[in-house]
Amino acid sequence: MLKAVILIGGPLKGTRFRPLSLDSPKPLFPVAGLPMIQHLVLKGTRFRPLSLDSPKPLFPVAGLPMIQHHIEACVQVPNLKEIIILGYYPSADLHKFVLDMVQEYKINIRYLQEFIALGTGGGIFHFRDQIRCGNPDAFFVLNGDVCADFSLNEMLEFHKTCPNSLVTVMATEATRQQSVYYGCIVRKQQTSEISHYVEKPSTFVSTLVNCGVYLFSLDIFQNIAAVFQSKQDEFYNGNYMVNGKDTDFNHIQLEKEIIMPLAGSGKAYVYQTSKWWSQLKSAGSAIYANRHYLQLYKTRHPERLQCSSQCKTIGDVYIHSSASVHPTAIVGPNVSIDDGAVIGPGVRIKESIILQGASIGNHSLVLNSIVGRNSKVGNWSRVEGTPCDPNPNKAFAKMDNPPLFNSNGKLNPSITILGDGVTVPGELIVLNSIVLPYKELTRSFKNEILL
Ligand code: GDD
Ligand code: GTP
Repeated sequence: MLKAVILIGGPLKGTRFRPLSLDSPKPLFPVAGLPMIQHLVLKGTRFRPLSLDSPKPLFPVAGLPMIQHHIEACVQVPNLKEIIILGYYPSADLHKFVLDMVQEYKINIRYLQEFIALGTGGGIFHFRDQIRCGNPDAFFVLNGDVCADFSLNEMLEFHKTCPNSLVTVMATEATRQQSVYYGCIVRKQQTSEISHYVEKPSTFVSTLVNCGVYLFSLDIFQNIAAVFQSKQDEFYNGNYMVNGKDTDFNHIQLEKEIIMPLAGSGKAYVYQTSKWWSQLKSAGSAIYANRHYLQLYKTRHPERLQCSSQCKTIGDVYIHSSASVHPTAIVGPNVSIDDGAVIGPGVRIKESIILQGASIGNHSLVLNSIVGRNSKVGNWSRVEGTPCDPNPNKAFAKMDNPPLFNSNGKLNPSITILGDGVTVPGELIVLNSIVLPYKELTRSFKNEILL
């Protein structure tokens, strides 16, 4: 029997201001002299502009919440009996999603909430009894913020061939330049044992990078327990500070504290995938992920690409059955239109995600953009962004996650994002801009963040 754990993290500190901001708009609540939302933008929390209310792991890509794609990959693994979603979002945020998933996939799925951020390994250790119960042979751990054609079955077969393996790490090839933004792996060619591992090195180590997908044997808990114990010992010996910082002694980083020490021990192996994989950290990467998941539907779920509307579609397009798209609209390639969205006559949409309840007025154009829930784009308007795809001329290039601003303080060109409930009146152009939720635009904008 097998299990899977999906790590989803949680909201950033200080973003939950609901009780304080019943009268004034929550995003404008002042913190340290600035509207709260301005801190979010400046800190580059790249999904926040879209929605303050729904957790990022539930952001819809190709018509499904981001981590539903992980769940779909897990249910394909024979004898996988339980999926545990692990994070520190309030459980109410995940409740409906989990119920829907159990109903849809008829498999045991639970959300377990960490009391504070315990790190990528701390939560696994805290809930070790939940993971171990039923005595699974092994368990997968998947980072929630990646997207891929997850080859979990192949990885499992590989893991079975590795003697004494405590962990198999899924890895992919990256460019030399980009590799340093990931966990870098050096392996023994013949055995695939991990001989060296460095998490986000400052100089080049290897182009083989950690995909954030692991398969662990249950014995790994002994290693995590040892790390936990030594941290507790430190704490009770009065060493509250590490490198001058107050440290949380329950926090364990899977990569640095568990995988890294296993390198060279003959107990950690690497499974290299050549299938599509990417991080899904920024809204720009959601457009890229959307395209790839739609492409996978062609072979795995062709029914999802069959839309009931009469409109002309080009390439891969997902249109929810409750969305209304006028027959004269042209949609695609690589477009997802979620439930209840209304697309008017003569509209053109390409490389974009239109979220639940959004409406696009007659003859408007949406290109390389995300249109938030219940946003309204008027007639004859143009909402356009710049794609941030990996360099097509470089083999193994991954998406860059550029900061919002470049070194000159200017906004880096990116996809256009209209947050939830934004109104763009007719005959306006919104180009390479990020519009925060519930904003009503009155003129055209280019390369701006609109608070
Ligand atoms: N439950 C829980 N608790 N989840 C967490 C926590 C936590 O305290 N902290 C982070 N996560 C989740 C995040 O939501 C994400 O899905 C995953 O764990 C990894 O997040 P990060 O810690 O931000 O790591 P990263 O994405 O920068 O790097 C990791 O992933 C890369 C691949 O995408 C590393 O594993 C790299 O080595 C790897 O290359
Ligand atoms: P080329 O590919 O270079 O020929 O340019 P194109 O404009 O024909 O192609 P593009 O993919 O940009 O647009 C595809 C369709 O959308 C074409 O039928 C365009 O006429 C239409 N289109 C482009 N801009 C707008 C616009 O602002 N509003 C509307 N309603 N349609 C547009």
